[in-house]
Amino acid sequence: MLSDELKERLVQSALDAQKWSYSPYSRYPVGAAVLTRSGRVYDGTNIENAAYPVSICAERVAVFKAVSEGEHEIEAVAVVTRNGGAPCGSCRQVLAEFGLEAIVLIADQAGEIRQETTVSALLPGAFTPDKLVE
Ligand code: THU
Repeated sequence: MLSDELKERLVQSALDAQKWSYSPYSRYPVGAAVLTRSGRVYDGTNIENAAYPVSICAERVAVFKAVSEGEHEIEAVAVVTRNGGAPCGSCRQVLAEFGLEAIVLIADQAGEIRQETTVSALLPGAFTPDKLVE
């Protein structure tokens, strides 16, 4: 369970990060914020590139920032777009690695949570690390 206060904090962090979006090609700014087991929040935004495929989504930037600081357990993630877009398939897979049961808050520009779900619900039958163990 996530308190309303924590939900608001996560959505606000995602909104703050969205302002740094580098998305001159799609013009679709995205902000994300992940809450880790330690209680810290890591934010991220989408960063595009003139070589389009090497662009990266906001969610993965946030997760990679957390992991690069030693955090491997994600409890919740907030994603903000202008119209409440959901995390893409690649981001769902990356989120599954570090937080299969994490809560996902999908919010819009006004900070309204349009959908509250979990990573496992967004990616049923995920390929998880245990599959690599005999
Ligand atoms: N994008 C994200 O940042 N997260 C998603 O889950 C979906 C898509 C970004 C990628 C690209 O910069 C822009 O949104 C349009 O696809």
